[in-house]
Amino acid sequence: MRVVILKDAQAVAHYGAQLFVKQIAQKPASVLGLATGSTPVNLYKELIKANKAGQVSFKQTTSFNLDEYLGLAASHNQSYRYFMNEQLFNHIDINIKNTHVPNGMHPNPKQAGSDYEQAITHAGGIDLQLLGIGRNGHIGFNEPSSSLASRTRVKTLTQATIDDNARFFAENEYQPELSITMGIGTIMESKQVLLLATGESKADAIAATVEGPISAMCPASALQMHQDAIIVIDEAAATKLTNKDFYQFIEKQQRKLETD
Ligand code: GLP
Repeated sequence: MRVVILKDAQAVAHYGAQLFVKQIAQKPASVLGLATGSTPVNLYKELIKANKAGQVSFKQTTSFNLDEYLGLAASHNQSYRYFMNEQLFNHIDINIKNTHVPNGMHPNPKQAGSDYEQAITHAGGIDLQLLGIGRNGHIGFNEPSSSLASRTRVKTLTQATIDDNARFFAENEYQPELSITMGIGTIMESKQVLLLATGESKADAIAATVEGPISAMCPASALQMHQDAIIVIDEAAATKLTNKDFYQFIEKQQRKLETD
């Protein structure tokens, strides 16, 4: 597990965006795993800028998003499909037909889960999966107690997550309590995983992810078992890490190796 601690949220977004740019340069037909929430928004802005400047092209890429609210249509302004179109897809040269978000309106949600798994396999698996993290350590919508071997399926949201995400919904607006999300097992099969976290409210979740025991009570801690997981955080999200100095020392060594 590589832990990269940067000054602020902007530096985190820039670093994350560069990883995507490098990935696509190496493999133009990359399969990208994408995420929603407020954390990746600045990374998407950087990718839009890089695309417009001709530094990266998404023409051959395919994407799979982590999750969607169950019961929200793609046209609903709080659906994750809508979010992705607005925040990224409408502004880059990706073929919208190659972008996938779980279908929150599928008449048979169980089927929607296995269809999604099949589509990922058919595309050749995810090359680089972007993740945010919930304050309770959730990834995608895999809430605490989710099986570490889980696959794409329906998940009930915790009250904490419903409360955290209430800020996106208008007062008295219907807010879903169910989701359809890639499982932890699905995420673990991505070739590389990039988890971003910024702000003090994520400090406990990051400490549990990096230094806590591997436990279904902190779904992101499963990444300790991933061979190529990189955790990119700002100073505020790093405040509860016991071994912070060591992670910074490792990165210093890493930079030396890269310039040699
Ligand atoms: C939602 C999403 C997660 C995301 C989390 C944190 O619950 N399903 O994928 O990581 O929110 O969001 P934010 O980045 O806004 O803190």
